[in-house]
Amino acid sequence: MCGIVGYTGPRQAYPVILKGLKRLEYRGYDSSGVALLNGGLHVYKKKGKVADLEETLVGKNMEGHIGIGHTRWATHGEPNDRNAHPHLSQSGRIAMIHNGIIENYAQIKQDLIAKGYTFKSDTDTEVLLNFIDDIRIKNECPLEEAVRIALRRVVGAYCILVIDNEDPETIIAARKGSPLVIGIGKGEHFLASDASPIIEYTKEVVYVNDYEIAIVRPDELILKNLGNEKQTPFITKLDMDLTAIEKGGYDHFMLKEIFEQPHTIYDCLRGRLDAENGNITMSGIQKYAEQIINANRIIIIACGTSWHAGLVAEYVIEELCRIPVEVEYASEFRYRNPIIHKGDVIIAISQSGETADTLVAIEKAKEQGAIILGIVNAVGSSIARASHAGAYTHAGPEIGVASTKAFTAQLAVLTMAALTLGLQKGTLERDKYLLLCKELAAIPEKVDVILKLDSQIKALAEKYKDAADALFLGRGYNFPVALEGALKLKEISYIHAEGYPAAEMKHGPIALVTEQLPVVFVATKDSYHEKVVSNMQEIKARKGKVIAVITEGDTVTPTLADDIIVIPPAHEVVAPMLSVVPLQLLAYHVGVAKGYDVDKPRNLAKSVTVE
Ligand code: M6R
Repeated sequence: MCGIVGYTGPRQAYPVILKGLKRLEYRGYDSSGVALLNGGLHVYKKKGKVADLEETLVGKNMEGHIGIGHTRWATHGEPNDRNAHPHLSQSGRIAMIHNGIIENYAQIKQDLIAKGYTFKSDTDTEVLLNFIDDIRIKNECPLEEAVRIALRRVVGAYCILVIDNEDPETIIAARKGSPLVIGIGKGEHFLASDASPIIEYTKEVVYVNDYEIAIVRPDELILKNLGNEKQTPFITKLDMDLTAIEKGGYDHFMLKEIFEQPHTIYDCLRGRLDAENGNITMSGIQKYAEQIINANRIIIIACGTSWHAGLVAEYVIEELCRIPVEVEYASEFRYRNPIIHKGDVIIAISQSGETADTLVAIEKAKEQGAIILGIVNAVGSSIARASHAGAYTHAGPEIGVASTKAFTAQLAVLTMAALTLGLQKGTLERDKYLLLCKELAAIPEKVDVILKLDSQIKALAEKYKDAADALFLGRGYNFPVALEGALKLKEISYIHAEGYPAAEMKHGPIALVTEQLPVVFVATKDSYHEKVVSNMQEIKARKGKVIAVITEGDTVTPTLADDIIVIPPAHEVVAPMLSVVPLQLLAYHVGVAKGYDVDKPRNLAKSVTVE
């Protein structure tokens, strides 16, 4: 979703902003723009890629030591130059960029129109901007004051950066529900939606909280709440380096991230899992272990791929801990007046830690007394901070829009949590616990083996790339993997794909089966295997094309399948961390074979910060 960059300090602002916008491209966007203060406010914007904007600016005087830049993911008004940010207030004095949605913009717009304002764009942003400027003019107050008054009246989510033609050093920033990070340099400040545009300049950052306003000058950072009380900025050190956000020789971030999984899963287990001695250390989970063990139920809330990780966790937690688990789409949970009892345990799963639906669902559950555990990848993100406790997945920055390494790291964390809780609760016997600890510790090496199948999977992608539809089937622990395989394929290759429990296929989807339909079976050796093989027979009987992910040593399935992908054996509880990897590669190669930009699939945003 929208990306925000700002700079104030001794450097030329434009190169910092341009590079920052390029680093934020992964978030998904459809237009971009920049505003610089240099003897006047200069605003440039363009539909399309940041490179298109850059091209139009070649040869222009782009000097200035303060500026703001934006990548826009359209919400109000189609993607075009006019609707792109920054917007300029009617008075011409203030420029603003915005990430989020102002829900009561229509009413504010009406009031402003009645006062004689006209609007150049269809955006809620231009409305908020003129609302702020109108307050500034009417009250004859500083911009900071006008921003505060305006934000107390708006409903919705925002991260805004505002610059004033009459104040050549200051950026006013504010957030509610949309992320904002401020990098602290020596006599300079960097502002961005996440740390990626900042990391090469400084590792010291402040994560701005909801309802806070930052007044940012080269030598000064003042934080206030909307009640005008000063807040102490909490400075944290970024634990990542530049290589983590660069492609490192791979053609795409998605491929790099798929190939990073042996390391990311290892990093996630490191320092927590001691398989030899049968110890798992998860301090965040431990803090609430009693409450979790005694909970009547656990509710998992998440979206997209993280929701699929939640579905796997449902199987794992119910099996090992015997606690009922419900897995909810955050967007449904938040709006349906959910029944939550004090002490209910909510597990929120999110790669970005900024997904608006998940964040609001957390707030709602918190208000009703639930304990919130966050399983989050992005350190310092809003969901991590909104949770009572939890565990980071330590997968490193995920740039490709399709989530890959975050998924396997989520599974690793959730499995460790279930193992330790099951043992403490007494629902998991020590011998099985020890076996599963070892199985988990062996996952990184086995993923490495699967990655060696890359060229075989690439050839399969070539063979099936022209399919119009695809079906993904699995049972038990592999059912969510089938869903994830289908999601990966559809978002990257735009092939219509559906995931189903293999048995459910008979209740409808089987009508789709023809000689042209590829059906991907996640058919590794587990307690459901024979049943899955029967489902495969049913597809073959109708001449569907079967691609099967199977376990080494399986001699039956190859006689049925048209194509097989053979992966190392693993206990069914940990198997999804393996069986998903070939499906990630398959989606990636189909997308590339079809000539699509797999890192930035159409219409998608990496971090969905609007509802
Ligand atoms: O950052 P989150 O894990 O909260 O994001 C949730 C979904 O938006 C995300 O998983 C999305 O479905 C991905 N595009 C999947 O590849």
